[in-house]
Amino acid sequence: MSADQPHFQPTATYEADPASVDRVLLLYSGGLDTSVMLKWIQDHYEAEVVCLTVNLGQPGEDYGVIEAKAKQLGAVECHVVDARERFAAEFVAPAIKANAVYGNGYPLFTALGRPLIAQLAVEYARRSDCDTIAHGCTGKGNDQVRIEATVATLAPELKTIAPVRSWEMGREEEIAYARENGIPVKGGTEVAPYSIDDNLWGRSSEGRWIEDLDHAPEDDVFQLVTRPEEAPDEAETVTVGFEAGVPVSLNGERLGLVELLERAAEIGCRHGVGIVDHIEDRIVGLKVRDIYEVPAAAIVLTAHEELERLVGTIHQNQFKPALDQKWGYLVYAGLWWEPLRSDLDAYMNAVSAQVSGEIGLRLFKGSVRVVTRSSANAVYDAELATFSESGGLFDQNASPGFIEIWSLQSRMAHRLRQRGES
Ligand code: ARG
Repeated sequence: MSADQPHFQPTATYEADPASVDRVLLLYSGGLDTSVMLKWIQDHYEAEVVCLTVNLGQPGEDYGVIEAKAKQLGAVECHVVDARERFAAEFVAPAIKANAVYGNGYPLFTALGRPLIAQLAVEYARRSDCDTIAHGCTGKGNDQVRIEATVATLAPELKTIAPVRSWEMGREEEIAYARENGIPVKGGTEVAPYSIDDNLWGRSSEGRWIEDLDHAPEDDVFQLVTRPEEAPDEAETVTVGFEAGVPVSLNGERLGLVELLERAAEIGCRHGVGIVDHIEDRIVGLKVRDIYEVPAAAIVLTAHEELERLVGTIHQNQFKPALDQKWGYLVYAGLWWEPLRSDLDAYMNAVSAQVSGEIGLRLFKGSVRVVTRSSANAVYDAELATFSESGGLFDQNASPGFIEIWSLQSRMAHRLRQRGES
């Protein structure tokens, strides 16, 4: 570091001192921000850059193109990792068991993806002898929290940098920088594109008119899900089979989880299901609106929740949603590695041991409705449930005695209050 440069003052212990950055592992998406970063890091830190691109099932991504772009922009190494199986098995499956949603219907696909992306960044940084991990998150979102908390937890020896947070370039300056440095800029430059994040569990769009809370969704935001008004006039029924809380079949056909989720998404897209227009309380304090397209989650979570309630007792069914909510919040809030999350997983797994069976759903123009249920573990007896019959485990003549004792405290308290009033 030269004498005229001010001494670097980190806010957090894991932030990299520019003077000691030699080799950077960059989480590279191929988009404008991370492409500019790829050049900028080489210029400003005089550091080598190793790129890592993670495939979590983003639809329509061409990884060959991304890799070629990284090489062209000077990356010394370039890794593309297909992490779909790992994402499905280690992140989405536990989320299904926890019926994980945040707020009013956000199934956490981004929040589930980030800790895996950051975990892979740590693995590849170590393998490629990098001292620093760089990501393209801004300073206003949850994603920076999820990534940096993961790196700081798993690899205290690694530092991080987040150039988008510190370089003070707006979109215009980024485009100018890209032009000067031979970085290809996709599409027109007048209208900023939506900010997209997606994987096999869902897709989010932010920015542009989405920031106007009174602006109803424009059609072009829906790139996955058919708009409900254009969905087929015929309903379609789909059955989802589960074993121990994890989906294993679709319409009776056994499928691996990745393929099952991809096929569920396809069916959901066709019928316009899984559109969520969401205002979110971010952990960094802001309220932000997202448009989510979550066709697979709309089908699988609806089926899972129904089956779980069918095999659970009234007590289990009243208790678990509070734990589900805690699980979802920890994950949303970037604390995937918090031990309480794995403690909760132990509970989820215990409950899930019974969650096997099949749920039928009818999809029609944006709606998902449960229509059939079957499970060998259902805490259900059709004979007992029959309206008027008496016998077996249920003697209707026992009911009055039950009611008298069940209502005892409530009746006593009611009488005391009436006496107090008069
Ligand atoms: N609001 C969601 C979340 O915080 C999705 C974020 C999407 N990320 C993005 N870089 N566009 O999890």
